[in-house]
Amino acid sequence: MAGNDNTFSRNRFSLTRRQLLTSAGGLAAGGAVAAALAACTPLASPKNTAWTPPASPMRFPKGYVWGAATSAYQVEGAWNVDGRGPSIWDTFSRAGGGHIVDGSTGDVAADHYHRWKGDLDLMKELGLGGYRFSISWTRIQPTGSGAVNQKGLDFYKGIIDGLAERDIRPAITLFHWDLPQPLQDAGGWPLRDTANRFADYADIVFGVFGDVDADWFTLNEPKTLAFNGYWYGSHAPGIMDPNQAAAAVHHQLLAHGLTVQAWGAHGVKGRIGPVLNLTPVTATDPAAAEQTKNVDAVENRLFLDPVLKGSYPTDAIGSANGQLPADPDQFEALVKDGDLSTISSPIGVLGVNYYGVSGVDLNGTMVKIHKTSTADWEQIWAPGLYQLLTRITKDYKRVPLLLTENGIPDDMLQNGLNDSARISYLRSHFQQAARAIGDGVPLEGHYVWALLDNFEWAEGYTQRWGLVHVDFGTQKRTPKKSFDWYTKVIAANAVSPV
Ligand code: FCB
Repeated sequence: MAGNDNTFSRNRFSLTRRQLLTSAGGLAAGGAVAAALAACTPLASPKNTAWTPPASPMRFPKGYVWGAATSAYQVEGAWNVDGRGPSIWDTFSRAGGGHIVDGSTGDVAADHYHRWKGDLDLMKELGLGGYRFSISWTRIQPTGSGAVNQKGLDFYKGIIDGLAERDIRPAITLFHWDLPQPLQDAGGWPLRDTANRFADYADIVFGVFGDVDADWFTLNEPKTLAFNGYWYGSHAPGIMDPNQAAAAVHHQLLAHGLTVQAWGAHGVKGRIGPVLNLTPVTATDPAAAEQTKNVDAVENRLFLDPVLKGSYPTDAIGSANGQLPADPDQFEALVKDGDLSTISSPIGVLGVNYYGVSGVDLNGTMVKIHKTSTADWEQIWAPGLYQLLTRITKDYKRVPLLLTENGIPDDMLQNGLNDSARISYLRSHFQQAARAIGDGVPLEGHYVWALLDNFEWAEGYTQRWGLVHVDFGTQKRTPKKSFDWYTKVIAANAVSPV
């Protein structure tokens, strides 16, 4: 298969994250879409849609972690401060050419690098039990290998100590897409050696922070980086090549496995796992069952199976509708003896990012079957969360789960602080989480994306996902209505029906 042929990738995943193409008509267009919906073959059991939340508050187990999340490039700013080296996101956002819709960069972002103490106070005010943040590789190793930058380590030590003082549990992601630029220059994630470089970096972090009792996460959403970064080109490093995307999947998973092993070798406190973004998919036509199965393989099993079962699905890669159109033989050749046992090294926690569901049509294209948020890749459907969590628990070995991201951007029609749409969204998702726990899912916490408004990748500053509004001119923080609402949920450890 031609390595650089990206024509069908753009079409096939017309609604996958960050693909800003819109499906004809969307939900509003009554006729055709309604007919397609009526003909749906739901993958979910009918029980999933029939459920209504109880009239009394739904309580969560004692110790349930109520959290909020951020990532380094999206909030820190201080791009050239204290020895930080350039990452692929610095390069990509500076390159112009419409990569970022508002032409912005993360140079300053929410200036969290200089304002983290105040931000930690806000977390305390909110009553957070957990804060998920990521470490920027290029603050620790400015070129992605070799010498360690002490100032970078000091910055994260400040945050970790500050969280401990405020009794907030850290959830630390080692990698949230900001690959050191020199490693991309050498080939990036399609290159096997990048996995070894990553394990070296993780080794440094574990050597310094091994006594930090945290939920450690290896990589955030390897799927988004592989597909958006190396297949669609809509994210850094902006490459459009399905074969590179497939290789980036394998090498990120290998990096994950090597890092889990390094973590064990250091005897680090806490537990470790990956963060995967997963999406229940539903056929929009009874004849699209095979296409839907293929998309499920690409979106979900390509990541869950190697990590939790030690094997790759056979239906994810190939030229059939709905598959990742890379060369299966080329992919297989990348998977060396022992890789799958490394990748499936036992984990203590699985981080799940949940942003919604998708329909799949006869072409294997992901299409809209629910209303989206302002982010048009995000089809809002709270029961899909229940469906996803119960499926993971049923199909795979039992592992504690954390919802490491869940949220929506501000509704364009609401003023920035009066975000009642976010409250409804979070309420309905918390209810589905409580429902899943009631049905035996080992879900132990829920991190809202995001604590603060921030740099939303290719959308720049045009989408605001925070519980806290940030004025990017003055850097003033103002809690939104959802912040106050979430404070009450956390205090009650329960979500009320209204
Ligand atoms: C997730 C990313 C996170 C943020 C949210 C909106 O896929 O992990 O950084 O962009 O989407």
